[in-house]
Amino acid sequence: MSAPWHNANAYQPSRRALETFNHGKAWDLMNKAKQRPAYHPKTCPDGFINLSGALNILMRDWLKDYTDKHMPDIQISQVLSYGTISGGPQLQSAMAGFFNHFFSPSIPVEPSQIVVTNGVTSMIDLVAWTLCEPGDAVLYLAPTFYMLDYDLASRNGIIAVPVSTTMLENPFGGDDEHIRKLIEVLHNSAVSTVAKGFPPRMLFLCNPANPQGRCYSAKALAALARFCSSRQMHLVVDEIYALSHFGDEVFSSALAIEDDIEAGVDVNNMVHGIYGLSKDFDMGGVRMGFLITRNTSIIEAIKRVTWFTWITAFSEVFVTDFFSKLNLVQNYVSTYQKRLSEAYSKTYEALVENGIPFQAATSGLFVLIDLSRWIGHFDGPDQAENPAETREIQLCTWLLEGGVFLNPGQAKTT
Ligand SMILES: Cc1ncc(COP(=O)(O)O)c(C=O)c1O
Repeated sequence: MSAPWHNANAYQPSRRALETFNHGKAWDLMNKAKQRPAYHPKTCPDGFINLSGALNILMRDWLKDYTDKHMPDIQISQVLSYGTISGGPQLQSAMAGFFNHFFSPSIPVEPSQIVVTNGVTSMIDLVAWTLCEPGDAVLYLAPTFYMLDYDLASRNGIIAVPVSTTMLENPFGGDDEHIRKLIEVLHNSAVSTVAKGFPPRMLFLCNPANPQGRCYSAKALAALARFCSSRQMHLVVDEIYALSHFGDEVFSSALAIEDDIEAGVDVNNMVHGIYGLSKDFDMGGVRMGFLITRNTSIIEAIKRVTWFTWITAFSEVFVTDFFSKLNLVQNYVSTYQKRLSEAYSKTYEALVENGIPFQAATSGLFVLIDLSRWIGHFDGPDQAENPAETREIQLCTWLLEGGVFLNPGQAKTT
């Protein structure tokens, strides 16, 4: 029995915390899916196959061999105490070498231009907090990955605005006309966001794009930078899949964008790259994300809050050692890209063989498939905000019952 003065409501989480409970059906389904035992060909053949996360298992044998041989080099007793908060000079220097080798920046990256957090998820939250005022809008190109909206907006009081590119023939910048249309869509979105009272402060995109598995051309990125400068917005590019490319499309980093004085593009101040180790390197457990920016005030400001995203001493020692060995990293990347290309070919063949429509990819760990034909087997509404179950969620539930979980498109803010 509770005491007479007991009032459970008085001890509820804050309103903003309670708002995070409400993610809709796709989130509920994902949590339901995670409770099932995972498929294993020997130990759990009836287990469930989770195709909803971008996991890279292609190099596990390589990484096992490497860590079996080299982990004894790291003395555990030396990583039990506090390490640096957001990356010391040795880690910064190793990563600057890595970015200069693989990302072809227009100006070489200096170690001091790198800030490190415990993963890209934390970095996105931190970047939004640092670059935007509450009430500012962040435009992002959609479809995009499931958690982006949440990462940007759940703690920062900003308005995350998806800018759908699904009606565009080629949002990645095939030719000048494609780029013109992409910028037009962004311009319209910025105008309507301003009209609603939310000033757009930043454009966020993921390149290579998740879930389309495509790379934006260097020309498209330059045009996006011009668009941002015309509205005094920051351009932030999440390049977590930078090395996961296999097709004939070339990955071009935001770090390679050049100043355009006439258009007011000042890359040192307004263009920021993000990278992490969870995807290309399958090191999600290491929890490491990097911001690469030449804007010194942003670096100083963001470092004030990396207190909350303190990296572990173990991760720092391991990553510094691994990424200092550029020949080793090159060997990893070459083997990985070959395996990724083979894995994509198998996926491609399976999709064609089974008559499942999809968008051809050139990069990433995923393929955007179109199951709209199968949605026709279900009755119901199609609007994501409708509280009743949409046909897409019904299809996902049906697939889940059959042992497979896929990310529904409505969750990707198409
Ligand atoms: C584009 C993108 N950025 C960031 C993340 C999360 O990265 P991290 O594990 O470093 O938090 C993901 C995970 O799926 C992703 O797809």
